[in-house]
Amino acid sequence: MNIVILTGAGISAESGLETFRDQGGLWSQYDVEDVATPQAYARNPALVHEVSNLLRRINRTANPNAAHFALADLESRHDGNFLLVTQNIDTLHQRAGSRNVLHMHGSIEVALCSDCGHTWPAPDEMSEDDCCMVCRKNQCRPDLVWFGENVRFLDEIEAATEAADLFAFIGSSGEVYPAAGLMELAQESGAKTVEINLHPSAVASAADEVILGPAGHVVPKWVEKTIHSAVL
Ligand code: APR
Ligand code: ZN
Repeated sequence: MNIVILTGAGISAESGLETFRDQGGLWSQYDVEDVATPQAYARNPALVHEVSNLLRRINRTANPNAAHFALADLESRHDGNFLLVTQNIDTLHQRAGSRNVLHMHGSIEVALCSDCGHTWPAPDEMSEDDCCMVCRKNQCRPDLVWFGENVRFLDEIEAATEAADLFAFIGSSGEVYPAAGLMELAQESGAKTVEINLHPSAVASAADEVILGPAGHVVPKWVEKTIHSAVL
C-alpha cells in the first residue's frame, strides 16, 4: 500500500503558525509582491529577509501538534511506501519525527546562495550582507520557492502520486498549483483521495472523502482508523 500525504499551512495552525489565506493570515499582513517573489528580493532584500527572519523565529518557537505526531506515527507503523510532501516552510513535521519529508516550497531553516546554488543550515537571522562560504558572493537568500519560481521535487512527487493507493490532502486551501493539482492526479490515477480541513478546499471535488475539523483533533483519529482498517 503506497501512501502520499500532502500538507498545507492548516496542519501547523494549531501550533500557532499563521496560515496564508485565512482571516488575518500572512497575505493579509504582507503583499506577496513585496516579500515572496524574486523581483521583491531584487528590489528590497532587507524586507524579504525581515519577513523570513520573523518566520524562522516563529518556526523555532512553535511546537509540533498532534496532527504532526500522528503522521509521523503513520509513517513509522506503515511498512509500504510512505511519502510526506509539505507546502509548508516550517520544520514541524521533522520535529514530530517524520523522516521522508519533501518541502516542495522550500524550508525556512535552509539558506541558499542564488549565485552558486550552495545551501547550508540557515542562521537565526539572514541579511543581504551575508556572504556565501563557497563562492564568497553575497547573493544569500532563504531557500524558499517564491511565486514565479519552480517548486522542488515535482517529478518525484508526481510519480509517487500516480502510484499512490491512498492520497491525503491536509490543511490546504487548494489555491496554489501545482500542489493543488495533485489530488486530482491521485484520483485519476486510482488512489483513494481524502481531504482533511476546517472547510472544503478549492479541490475538495476530487476528494473521495472530506473530513472536516481541526487537524490536531481529526488527523490522529484518521490515522488510527487508517492503520486499523487493515489496508496498510
Ligand atoms: N485544521 C485544518 N485545516 C485548517 C486549520 C486547522 N486547524 N486551520 C486552517 N485550516 C485550513 C484552512 O481552511 C485553509 O484551507 O488550512 C488552509 C490554509 O490555506 P492557505 O492559507 O491558503 O495555506 P496553503 O494552502 O498551505 O497555501 C499554499 O500558498 O502562499 C503559498 O507558499 C504558500 O505553501 C503556501 C501555498
Ligand atoms: Zn555561492
